[in-house]
Amino acid sequence: MSSRTLVWISGASSGVGAALADAVPYPDARVIDLSRRGGRTTEHLKVDLSDPADWVRVEQHFVAELAGFDGDRVVFIHNAGTITPIGPADAVDASAYTRAVLLNSAAPQVLGSAFLRASSQLSCERHLVMLSSGAAKTAYAGWSSYNAGKAAVEQWVRTVGAEQSGCRVIAVAPGVVDTPMQSEIRATPATAFPAVARFQALKQTGALVGPAVAAAGIWSLLDRELESGTCLDLRDLDPGR
Ligand SMILES: NC(=O)c1ccc[n+]([C@@H]2O[C@H](COP(=O)([O-])OP(=O)(O)OC[C@H]3O[C@@H](n4cnc5c(N)ncnc54)[C@H](OP(=O)(O)O)[C@@H]3O)[C@@H](O)[C@H]2O)c1
Repeated sequence: MSSRTLVWISGASSGVGAALADAVPYPDARVIDLSRRGGRTTEHLKVDLSDPADWVRVEQHFVAELAGFDGDRVVFIHNAGTITPIGPADAVDASAYTRAVLLNSAAPQVLGSAFLRASSQLSCERHLVMLSSGAAKTAYAGWSSYNAGKAAVEQWVRTVGAEQSGCRVIAVAPGVVDTPMQSEIRATPATAFPAVARFQALKQTGALVGPAVAAAGIWSLLDRELESGTCLDLRDLDPGR
């Protein structure tokens, strides 16, 4: 029997994405990772999402997989992101900066729009979830392309949420989660990232959220009554509901 649920997670090879893949709440789901390394899920489309040529491959893949899909739900969690390069905008490596802009700002919009197009003919449940961050609202010095990318994600979600009726589109900030991205942040010199001591203190005091806790919170959103276009922070959710 074919799966009733089809799930894509970008960046399921590490951190929050890997935890999301481990905790898919639909036992029969097909789960497909969109990342460079893969390794966490049975199905993996190897893509570099900072390369626009691979966005086209992802759209073709969505179209092929969704043609004739007659299950209960389709889900795309766009989680892939990078904090690299960290440092003042006039000092960071230019090609790394370009890749970060493509991955954090442009890929969510292009891949989100590709998923909406490819699933538009379906009458089943459709969910598009974008990973955001507190950095969408706080202008952390040293993170210019990251902050700007997450702000872009949230404004895209608000706009597309107002347009869409068939697919629920939301953005979620997961809190400060203990992943390789946080290790990279803590290892950055204060000259590149002035707030580094705050993030080091969060780790030292055990204040980081585990990836499994963040993943459970994100999956719980699919069952909550949230309007399309909602941008929320897991830390603001009522755990009772
Ligand atoms: N950790 C936190 O505290 C925190 C807080 C707020 C928001 N977030 C957001 O949560 C998401 C996951 O972060 P994380 O902490 O789990 O980071 P992570 O451990 O560094 O994992 C990042 C994931 O993104 C994928 N990725 C990175 N560059 C890619 C590329 N060019 N093409 C395809 N995939 C790429 C990686 O896969 P490959 O390397 O295999 O390609 C990896 O699976 C991100 O959107 C991040 O901004 C995290």
